[in-house]
Amino acid sequence: MKINLYEQLATELAGLIAERIYAPGERLPSIRHLADQKRLSISTVMQALRLLEDRGLIDARPQAGYFVRHRAHQLTTVASVENPKEPLYVGITNSLMRVCQANEAPGVVQLGSAWPPDELLPTRRIQQLVGTIVRRSPELLSTVSCYGSNEPNFIRQVIRRALDWGSISGEEIVVTTSCTEALQLCLRAVTKPGDTIAIESATYFVLLQLIESMGLKALEIPTDPCIGLSVDALELALDAGLVTACLFIPNVNNPLGCVMPEANKKRVAELLSKHGIPLIEDDIYSDLHFSQHRPWPIKAYDTSGHVMMCSSFSKAVSPAARVGYVVAGRYTEQVSLLKTISSGATSPFFQAVLAEFIGTSSYDKQLRKMRRTMEERVARMSDGVATFFPSECRVSEPQGGFVLWVQLPEQVNAMALHEYAIARRVAFMPGQLFSGSGKYVNYLRLNCCNGWTPEIIRGVQRLGELVHQAADADMRKRA
Ligand SMILES: Cc1ncc(COP(=O)(O)O)c(C=O)c1O
Repeated sequence: MKINLYEQLATELAGLIAERIYAPGERLPSIRHLADQKRLSISTVMQALRLLEDRGLIDARPQAGYFVRHRAHQLTTVASVENPKEPLYVGITNSLMRVCQANEAPGVVQLGSAWPPDELLPTRRIQQLVGTIVRRSPELLSTVSCYGSNEPNFIRQVIRRALDWGSISGEEIVVTTSCTEALQLCLRAVTKPGDTIAIESATYFVLLQLIESMGLKALEIPTDPCIGLSVDALELALDAGLVTACLFIPNVNNPLGCVMPEANKKRVAELLSKHGIPLIEDDIYSDLHFSQHRPWPIKAYDTSGHVMMCSSFSKAVSPAARVGYVVAGRYTEQVSLLKTISSGATSPFFQAVLAEFIGTSSYDKQLRKMRRTMEERVARMSDGVATFFPSECRVSEPQGGFVLWVQLPEQVNAMALHEYAIARRVAFMPGQLFSGSGKYVNYLRLNCCNGWTPEIIRGVQRLGELVHQAADADMRKRA
């Protein structure tokens, strides 16, 4: 394919904008300067600048020159308060497995799964602690009890960390092999097949998968990308008697990145207590918030024990240690029994290793580093979307974590786009995987945690080109 000189120049300038060599709001070199520098004609430079203008990357200001446009437009939809829709059985697992498998092909630029990269994890320190604990307590590698398998020091550290937002008792903590296991045990403790689970819309695909695998139905509650779940909509669903249990990510929702205002969380706790409905709260991202203070979980406002708060150390310390927990309130006995039946004890050895790490200031330092880095990387990715994607795209404004939620032009089908993207070696998560009812056809989630390297920039650029092409070709009709 022949690329014109003006397109080459436009691509080069777009790259410089993406790398923030020219930051949002800054003036580009003048037309004459670019023509001299690149040995191009004035009209070629003007064509290149017009192309960048059409792509929404720069603005022409009369008498002043060309300026880099500010960030992508933010998603600002306000969640509607509507009468609850029909609860639905979920069926995303086959598509999810296909997407995950394709995303893991070698040589694919990883904008898909949201796992922190090795360079940001305290792996060296964890290795040292493994050695220390082996020498100090070798019995942890050979003995295990099916009952009471919680490591006392791990429980102590979880309680100490919870002091940031409240007080919990060791009696109500069940240690699990991950946050996912904690969520699954809680669902099993309070539901039977055919029951309805209220979820945020959009929500993390593994929650949908759990609902699907247990023969449950999902009721999607409208959720605002800025302030989270609509409490009014939840109240309507509760009043209608539709809901058996709730499964929410109130702090740093995945994929939206929003944090519910504290007053809304308190209201949710009060409503659930009034209706006697359990909430399974996924709190895994709270420590990776971007604000001054850690947002409180809904558990902090729970006076009746209806909230089961689940978390793990997979996102900030070690995805491979597989240690999580649930603060299970009034459901502790059932959850604990199900844990014993389903997988026995969680490795006492890794509980001890993690306890050693999270009990020191090293963990706070680690969290500060992750938050700072992630906030910067999310901002870079947001700029990248503004640079390379069509200007009508909208992005979330995450308040923590490391994913970006992108609304594409209406005519783009993200699942169809995914096939084209994999063929061009770029991975992402299509929006359809974040809903049980086929919503978010023209949305996608980008993983931002891998840094703004030349490889990632090329990946985002390639994906942006595909979105441009898909928008033009109306891929939705072809899907
Ligand atoms: C919201 C949310 N909950 C839970 C998990 C999984 O955590 P774990 O590895 O501890 O099972 C993830 C991982 O992506 C997540 O995004």
